[in-house]
Amino acid sequence: MRRPVLAANWKLHKTQAETRAFLEKFKPLVAQSSHCEIVVCPPFTSLGAAVAAARDSNIAIGAQDVFWEKKGAYTGEVTAAMLAEAGCQHVIVGHSERRQYFHETDGEVSRKLLAVLSAGLTPIVCVGETLQEREAKATEAVLARQFLGACNALTTTQFSRIIVAYEPVWAIGTGQTATPELAATAHRFLRQQADERFGAPAAQELRILYGGSVKPDNVKSLMAQREIDGGLVGGASLEPESFAAIVNF
Ligand code: 13P
Repeated sequence: MRRPVLAANWKLHKTQAETRAFLEKFKPLVAQSSHCEIVVCPPFTSLGAAVAAARDSNIAIGAQDVFWEKKGAYTGEVTAAMLAEAGCQHVIVGHSERRQYFHETDGEVSRKLLAVLSAGLTPIVCVGETLQEREAKATEAVLARQFLGACNALTTTQFSRIIVAYEPVWAIGTGQTATPELAATAHRFLRQQADERFGAPAAQELRILYGGSVKPDNVKSLMAQREIDGGLVGGASLEPESFAAIVNF
């Protein structure tokens, strides 16, 4: 059985004070939610406040990005070891917004993934096609390229520690959720890729989250799909009541 993961990606939202206020309200709403893992990913500057506010709770804190080098002249960057020291347990890598606005390549996503694993953290690796790619019937080619581009360098043991998020770009922040069936088809394809590269046991245990306009009113039908092991939630994770309703689907 794959344990569900419900993760909040706050993107460029919430100061330290807002982070503390969110977690004070959110913690009691999910205190009994033992059916899943809960992860909250604030901006870098709010990580310390989030870790302190989530101490002794069932909420793990994650970062939204990382750099692959361990030290050096890389102005503005943060290492995986720094995130581990700050109390993070997870790191999102390869989000489509990083690929789109910051020109991240599959090769860079792969290096970030390895850095996160070697720091002992759990990466949440994002893949997903654009609307143009879907309309050109290139979805599977894009997913295979992004999945293998990120994961091909891993050993099976390393692979067994990652979480994948399928986030179709056309569903992010648009209110246009993928239908549960369409998401499940993409998840099945990704699991098959995992099977071919890392073998059936690792593929069966891989958790694949869906992301893209997950809301309290559609989470149940998404989670009803056997192939969907959780959600990576943007907009609807910014209010404690809304994200709690998603966690408690
Ligand atoms: P929305 O839930 O706002 O569509 O964002 C999804 C996302 O990008 C999560 O990483």
